[in-house]
Amino acid sequence: MNDLRIGLVGTGGIGRTHIERINGRLQGGKVVACADPAGAFGLSVAEKYGIQGFENPIDMINDPGIDAVMCTTADPYHEECVLASIAAGKYIFCEKPLAPKADACKRIVEAEMKAGRKLVQVGFMRRYDAGYKQLKAAIDSKEYGEPLLLHCAHRNPSVPADWDNSMAVENSMVHEIDVLRWLLGEDYATAEVRYGKPTNNGPKGLHDPQVMILTTKSGVRIDVESFVNNHNDYHIKCEVVCDGAVLNMPQPNYISVNAKAVTGQAMYTDCFQRFADAYNDEIQAWINASKEGRVDGPTAWDGYACQVAAAAASKARETQEIVPVEYDPMPDFYKG
Ligand SMILES: NC(=O)c1ccc[n+]([C@@H]2O[C@H](COP(=O)([O-])OP(=O)(O)OC[C@H]3O[C@@H](n4cnc5c(N)ncnc54)[C@H](O)[C@@H]3O)[C@@H](O)[C@H]2O)c1
Repeated sequence: MNDLRIGLVGTGGIGRTHIERINGRLQGGKVVACADPAGAFGLSVAEKYGIQGFENPIDMINDPGIDAVMCTTADPYHEECVLASIAAGKYIFCEKPLAPKADACKRIVEAEMKAGRKLVQVGFMRRYDAGYKQLKAAIDSKEYGEPLLLHCAHRNPSVPADWDNSMAVENSMVHEIDVLRWLLGEDYATAEVRYGKPTNNGPKGLHDPQVMILTTKSGVRIDVESFVNNHNDYHIKCEVVCDGAVLNMPQPNYISVNAKAVTGQAMYTDCFQRFADAYNDEIQAWINASKEGRVDGPTAWDGYACQVAAAAASKARETQEIVPVEYDPMPDFYKG
């Protein structure tokens, strides 16, 4: 088959990195057109990359010259874009979250089931990270016994000025909510969020750091620290305490620095550095799978499951209580 002809909706920060990634580094697909809910902005990005611009994203999705769609708009526009792609019978890669609220994710799940085949992949790139994959292989091997506890951290040097107390869960730790459910192969039972002593690095009134505590249906207890103004580095930690061993996710190699009479390991400062290979592998897998007529990675159901747990964690943050995570039963369509 010729290159997959991709239409990208949402020409902001990550959308442009995906255009450069696909057209510059990956194989088997090309972003041939783009559009944005801010129509004129989308046209200007199309001109910059020398690809076709559409003022209206839905016209682009329905255009016969587009084989598959990538949605990288701001979160509230995801649902419309994904539903239009399903209606057009086209594979769609949607950046996380699938939609901000679980009921919107459920509408997508229902539309996909009505279409009769899976078309949606959600952009949880950590499932493609070499370190998480090694951890999963070690857990699945059963060589080290059952996982009992997980200690995780998600630290950023700084965040945009409009960052608020809800975003530690909804913007940041949603990655852990998805990847740890995948790692352990089971759903969550409860969510809790507690505040640490607020750092002086952030604005007054911001609860940073926060700790999210999740329990799974089988009783595995997970703590995740979110510290988004650490003023140091972008650091992701995942330690799994099993019956017979403690498994630590390897940190990727990065340059060693000799400076100011100290030798040290330089660190990443954002997710695009830390997960560069994971983003490449995730999108390459999506291109390959779309050409083969299947979905490779996180499904629409995974997108729904993540938002159910995120909503419970958000409620737990507001109430400072333990909140049950209650999913609808998984339809047969998504099993196996
Ligand atoms: N998987 C990940 O790790 C990851 C990382 C970053 C973002 N995301 C997701 O990707 C999606 C997009 O995030 P983003 O960081 O690219 O958002 P962004 O703010 O850069 O872009 C989002 C939208 O903002 C508008 N916009 C941005 N720049 C503009 C400009 N100069 N002029 C006019 N309008 C402009 C556009 O409508 C654009 O589609 C979100 O759903 C986000 O959650 C995922």
